[in-house]
Amino acid sequence: MEILTHAGKYKETDVQALAVAVFKDEKADEGFLRELDEAAGGIIKSIIESEELKGKEGDTVYVHLATDGRLKAKRLLLVGVGERENYQLAQVSQMAGTAARTLRARSVKSVGLVPRAPEAHVEKVVAAAVEGAIMGLFEPDKYRTVEKEERQIERLVVIVEGAKEEALRRGAERGRIIGESVNFTRDLANEPGVYMTPTIMAERAQEIANQFQLEIDVLDQARMEQEGMGALLGVARGSEEPPKLIVLKYAPAGGGSAGDNEYLALVGKGITFDSGGISLKPGENMELMKYDMTGGATVLGVMRAIAQLKVPIPVLGVVPCTENLPSGKATKPGDVLRAMSGKTIEVINTDAEGRLILADGIAYAKKLGATRVVDMATLTGAVSIALGDVNTGILGTDQKLIDEVIGSGREVGEKFWQLPLDKEYTKQIKSDIADIKNVGGRKAGTITAAAFLKEFADGISWAHLDIAGTAWGDDAKPHRAKGPTGIAVRTLINLIERAAQNRPSS
Ligand code: BES
Ligand code: ZN
Ligand code: ZN
Repeated sequence: MEILTHAGKYKETDVQALAVAVFKDEKADEGFLRELDEAAGGIIKSIIESEELKGKEGDTVYVHLATDGRLKAKRLLLVGVGERENYQLAQVSQMAGTAARTLRARSVKSVGLVPRAPEAHVEKVVAAAVEGAIMGLFEPDKYRTVEKEERQIERLVVIVEGAKEEALRRGAERGRIIGESVNFTRDLANEPGVYMTPTIMAERAQEIANQFQLEIDVLDQARMEQEGMGALLGVARGSEEPPKLIVLKYAPAGGGSAGDNEYLALVGKGITFDSGGISLKPGENMELMKYDMTGGATVLGVMRAIAQLKVPIPVLGVVPCTENLPSGKATKPGDVLRAMSGKTIEVINTDAEGRLILADGIAYAKKLGATRVVDMATLTGAVSIALGDVNTGILGTDQKLIDEVIGSGREVGEKFWQLPLDKEYTKQIKSDIADIKNVGGRKAGTITAAAFLKEFADGISWAHLDIAGTAWGDDAKPHRAKGPTGIAVRTLINLIERAAQNRPSS
C-alpha cells in the first residue's frame, strides 16, 4: 500500500472514497459537516437527521455520491469517533483502522482519510492515522487458500488541510514504522507452533538485526549450560526442538547514552508452544497456546521499530525461547532446578514455565548491564479472570517505571492496571525443599507469578506486564481483526521515546 499525505483540500483529493471522522451528536448544519454536506449534495444532513449515525465510536455509514457533486471522491464513509473532547491520538488510530477495514471490504482501492484533529500535533495525528490503518488491515488468515481476504487498498492519502509538508511526511513515515512493527509482532504470534519454533524465532530476529542494523547474539543450549541457565533448560528438557536465547542490542549511532548510566532491557517470554508439559493442559483451546511467545515477539517488534525511529538511547532485548512439551526426558513436578542467579526452584507444576524461562532471561539481562527491566509475558490465566481483555496487568518494584508504562500506554490507547506486589505474597512461593517453588496456590495467581519474578529482579528497577488476557482478541472489532492484537508494542515504543526525551542532558 502506497502511503501519501495531502495538505490541500479534501474535496479535491483524487481518491475513490473519503473517510471522515464524525463526532458524537455533531450538527450537520454548522461548521465542518455543513461544508461537507454542501459539497456532498445534502446527504450528510439526511444521514444525521435520520439518526442512522450518531457519531458513536466505531459506527459507520457508507454511501455512494451522485456524480455531479462537488467532491472528487465518489464514495463517502462517515466514521463515528465519540465525544469531541475525548478525541485523541488513540481515537484517530482507531478511526483509521475502522475506515481502512470497512473500505477494503467494499473493494475500494484508494482511500482519503480526513482525521480532523487539532492542527498543533499534525505529525502525531498523521502517524496515528497511518499506524491505525496499517494495523486495521492485518488479517490472521495467512494459511487460508479459499475465501481469503484478497482485496487490497492500493493507496492511502491522509489529508490535513493547510499542514506543513515536512510534518506530514515525517508523520506518515513514523506511522508506517510503528504500524508495520505492531503487525510484525502479530504475525509471529499468529504462527502455529510448527512454523514458529525457537530456531525460527531466532532466524526472524537475525533478519531484523540484518535489516535494521541491530547487534545480535543467539545463545544455544551449550552456552546456556555454560551460563548455568538451569531454569530455562529445565523447561526445554522435554522438547526435541533446541532452545534459543535471543539477545538484540540497539545502540544509537554516535553512542548516545541513557543518562545516569541507565540501561533499559526488554525481556519477553518466548514459549513457542505451551502444552503444559508433564502437567499437561486440557485439550480445549490448547491450540491457542501457540501465542505463548507473544511477549518475545513484542520485544522483537519494539526493537525493529526503535532501530528505524533511531531513538537516542541504547536498548537491550532478551528473549528466552523454548517449547514446553511432555516427554520421557521432561522435567517432572517435584524436580528442583538451579537458576542462573543461583536460586533453586522446586517445580510444582510444569505448566508454570513462563516464570522459569524469564528468571534466566532477567538474570542474563542483568549480566549484560541492564539497570531497568520491563518484562512481558502471556504469564497467567488468572490475569484474564481479574482484568478480562481490557487491561493488561502491570506489577513491579519501581513505581516510577510502572507509572511511566501506564502513562505511555494511555497516550497510545493501551490500558494497564496495576496489581499490588506486597512482600506478604512471597510467602506463597516458599518451598520446603528449595529456595522457592514455581506456583503459589490458587489465590492471587497473577501476583504470585510476579512475586516469583521479583526474586530475580533484585538490584534493578523492574516492571512486569502480564499480557495473557490482552494479547489475543477473541472477537473482531471495527478497527481490528480478531486474533493477535500486538498489545504493548506501541506503549513500549512510546516509553522508550519518552525516556529518551527526559534523560538528563550530559
Ligand atoms: N501460558 C500460560 C498462561 C496463559 C493461559 C496464557 C491462558 C494465555 C491464556 C502459562 O504458562 C500457564 O500455563 N500458567 C498457569 C500457571 C499455573 C499452573 C500456576 C495458569 O495460568 O494456569
Ligand atoms: Zn504454562
Ligand atoms: Zn505459558
